[in-house]
Amino acid sequence: MIPYQIIEKKSRGEVLSATEIAEFINAYTNGNIPDYQMSALLMAIFIKGMSTEETLALTKVMLESGERMDFSGAPGFVADKHSTGGVGDKVSILLAPILAVLGIHIPMISGRGLGHSGGTLDKLESIPGFNVNLDLDTWHDLVMTEKVGLVGQTGNICPADKKLYSLRDVTATVRSIPLISASIMSKKIAEGIQGLVLDVKTGNGAFMQTVSESQALANSLVSIGKGYGIKTSALITDMNQPLGAAIGNWFEMKESVLGLQGKGPDDLMEVTYALGAEILRMAQPDLTQEVAIGMQQKTVADGSAFEKLLKIVELQNGDPKILENMEAYPEAKFSKTVHVKQSGYLAQINTMALGFAGIQLGAGRRVISDEIDYSSGMYIQKKLGEKVETGDEVLTLHSNNETALQEVAGQLSNVFTYTDTRPEIPPLIVERIN
Ligand code: URA
Repeated sequence: MIPYQIIEKKSRGEVLSATEIAEFINAYTNGNIPDYQMSALLMAIFIKGMSTEETLALTKVMLESGERMDFSGAPGFVADKHSTGGVGDKVSILLAPILAVLGIHIPMISGRGLGHSGGTLDKLESIPGFNVNLDLDTWHDLVMTEKVGLVGQTGNICPADKKLYSLRDVTATVRSIPLISASIMSKKIAEGIQGLVLDVKTGNGAFMQTVSESQALANSLVSIGKGYGIKTSALITDMNQPLGAAIGNWFEMKESVLGLQGKGPDDLMEVTYALGAEILRMAQPDLTQEVAIGMQQKTVADGSAFEKLLKIVELQNGDPKILENMEAYPEAKFSKTVHVKQSGYLAQINTMALGFAGIQLGAGRRVISDEIDYSSGMYIQKKLGEKVETGDEVLTLHSNNETALQEVAGQLSNVFTYTDTRPEIPPLIVERIN
């Protein structure tokens, strides 16, 4: 079949064969199918969905588009954590060093910003010099010696996902269970891990906005992981408000450092420790949840997790000194505060709008070639359910683009909803799927 016919077939909602999927994806990865045809197929998949068999075939071709790592020589458990994407989600930056200190090997492949959600790679690259493009041997050695290496789809790991991911980012084709499943799981399987915990976000700042959609995504991810022999579990966690207070690359890096110094926001630390406990308990099934959380808290309290982050930053060519003296980081030229419009309780936040606002401020990309302004972003000062007074500060925006800042400030006063009575707040950790 020619590409046109495959797009046509999917647009009619028919099931593609494994061969059709493989031929299309391989041709795109090799440059023989242009972005516009790939975008059309992505949109058809987005709208019509894929069967379990098609999702597995897509995962397989993406996995096999590149190399697979082999950590079988590692003396300890090899594992990773991955999030389906949210706003202010900086958990990976805290969790990787915490788990490495506790003896888990973490060959972490992360992504860039996707749609309205931020990406760990962009956050790491806000550290001057930080290199996420290690060659496979260097990355392997780093994981074997330091137990952690933080990279992107480095070298030849899932090149198909690398290309598709940037295309999905700008074509509104992210929010699709088969596309997210294949994207995440191809990278994770390629890492050569034994254990994986997935943070499946749910709510108005997540790609999956309802708990039932998030359950479907979690089940899809977990079953693919298990099919490849990886111990896999998922936590569905709330994304009806940003995690922590910081949104934007350097701001999130800063908040991660504070978290590793014992000064992190409660919600961020709770999600981090809960995900970490999943991995620790996969490695050592006799550990209780309390002990697994306590072990992680100790690495923060005694400074060893922060020391580990500094070491990794140094070994990946970044400047660790900036993390010890964060005030020296260049600030954005302009800032603006958004105020509470009505006394009462903060009942709702349009979290996705905050994510897109971050992009407008310069913290993300509108088109693939956009450069990120690492000093731009925002801090949210209130949490859902908090009592507020008219005129309180609710958001502080930062950008080097004054026009964008003014525009965003105008739009954002409407993203908050206030009520007179205390609203019901969704639990932070909604469900565990295993
Ligand atoms: N993270 C990924 O790596 N891919 C997705 O599609 C969504 C989140």
